[in-house]
Amino acid sequence: MSRVALVTGGSRGIGAAISTALKKAGYSVAATYAGNDDKARAFTDETGIKTYKWNVADYDACVDGIHQVEGDLGPVEVLVNNAGITRDAPFHKMTPEQWKEVMDTNLSGVFNMTHPVWPGMRERKFGRIITISSINGQKGQFAQTNYAAAKAGDIGFTKALAQEGARAGITVNAICPGYINTEMMSTIPEKVMNEVILPQIPVGRLGEADEIARAVVFLASDDAGFITGSTLTANGGQYMA
Ligand SMILES: NC(=O)c1ccc[n+]([C@@H]2O[C@H](COP(=O)([O-])OP(=O)(O)OC[C@H]3O[C@@H](n4cnc5c(N)ncnc54)[C@H](OP(=O)(O)O)[C@@H]3O)[C@@H](O)[C@H]2O)c1
Repeated sequence: MSRVALVTGGSRGIGAAISTALKKAGYSVAATYAGNDDKARAFTDETGIKTYKWNVADYDACVDGIHQVEGDLGPVEVLVNNAGITRDAPFHKMTPEQWKEVMDTNLSGVFNMTHPVWPGMRERKFGRIITISSINGQKGQFAQTNYAAAKAGDIGFTKALAQEGARAGITVNAICPGYINTEMMSTIPEKVMNEVILPQIPVGRLGEADEIARAVVFLASDDAGFITGSTLTANGGQYMA
């Protein structure tokens, strides 16, 4: 029987590439999303991957949602914590709401999703937790104290939990993408892209979502059983942590 993989924010952007790559690699995949029903429906129509709507910032909603996914597909063996948001502002203009929203989704969301699947993984002596952090959690970024703090928190979470999962056959890893060619990037003016962003990336281009997805498929595989607590940078050489 194929393993079950659950990808948060798996209906578009990097998450959609991850969901699709895991399906292609033979997993039974469930993808979650927050509210964009049209995108989720189009994604399911296109890929056959079932989508589920709940807010990862809400613990009880995560428990209920995971229960539903497990009823449909079976126990979650691979969890990809990919859902994330930005609410950028320079610190002196950042509101408590902007801080809280990003922490609740990007950091507490990782706890809220991982905590309910952890006991089952421990019992079955197998699990993969893969969290999509960010280059900006490693190096910081202007106007992103909230995002950088949350994403750095994801790395600390990964390193601590990896120690707890190791003897139970559960690996816990983080991936830190650099600039990836998603919808978010298409809003950046061409001049800024060519004169500011691309010159910072030694390979001279943005990353592709598929390049992150392939790293996830590797970390989920049996071949990656000795890799845990690691932070994989995938940023075209922009920051070498
Ligand atoms: N794009 C980049 O260059 C880049 C670089 C480094 C790291 N990252 C990280 O990679 C991950 C994916 O980024 P992306 O650019 O692919 O994002 P995206 O295109 O904006 O997609 C985000 C996905 O997360 C879902 N989501 C957002 N908030 C949620 C919530 N509270 N509960 C449940 N689902 C939620 C969205 O659902 P809806 O469709 O319903 O809104 C969507 O499916 C994020 O963690 C991001 O921080 C991205």
